[in-house]
Amino acid sequence: MKLTVVDHPLVQHKLSIMRDKNTPSNQFRQLLREISHLLAYEVTRDLDVETRDIETPMGPAEVPFLAGKKLALVSILRAGNGLLDGILELIPSARVGFVGLYRDEETLKPVQYYFKVPDQLDQRLVIAVDPMLATGNSSIAAIDMLKEAGAQNIAFLCLLAAPEGIANMQAAHPDVPIVTASVDKKLNEIGYIVPGLGDAGDRMFGTA
Ligand code: URA
Repeated sequence: MKLTVVDHPLVQHKLSIMRDKNTPSNQFRQLLREISHLLAYEVTRDLDVETRDIETPMGPAEVPFLAGKKLALVSILRAGNGLLDGILELIPSARVGFVGLYRDEETLKPVQYYFKVPDQLDQRLVIAVDPMLATGNSSIAAIDMLKEAGAQNIAFLCLLAAPEGIANMQAAHPDVPIVTASVDKKLNEIGYIVPGLGDAGDRMFGTA
């Protein structure tokens, strides 16, 4: 499985501000949006292009355009929406889907409460987005569902990943490349990433 850690100084600087517990929600959201542009740049690096003939003011030219079906961005609710908004600014014509999961407190397994995705997933690059790859349970379940819906070419984009989440994802979906801004130290006893940034949804929406 391919793991890309985007260690660009701009990404790392913005991420460090996001980690600070004193960074307010509005700044947190803005930074997440800015970082999402830079992560999206990496996750789309291998998109196919095709050349077409155009006329520039200087004459004819054969130039590259994106080829194939529009890609699909799938937000894993609710924190995925913070990444989604930024990536859509970079790729405004992308199709968008949502996966909603909650954790059953008895079985600790993810349970689906919402699933709506674009058609013809089999012909699109599908980028699943969730800021935090912690245990990997919800991301793995979301990717299971995307595969059941026909997706064949899936990438996973997150802001932070725990080594445990990467290992679990690797075991469950070795075909899915992961792009992240950081691989943090570990998970704590309640499944939070350390040092991390806390609960990404709460940090984004001020619900702590
Ligand atoms: N989800 C979060 O929002 N934060 C973590 O640290 C782990 C999972």
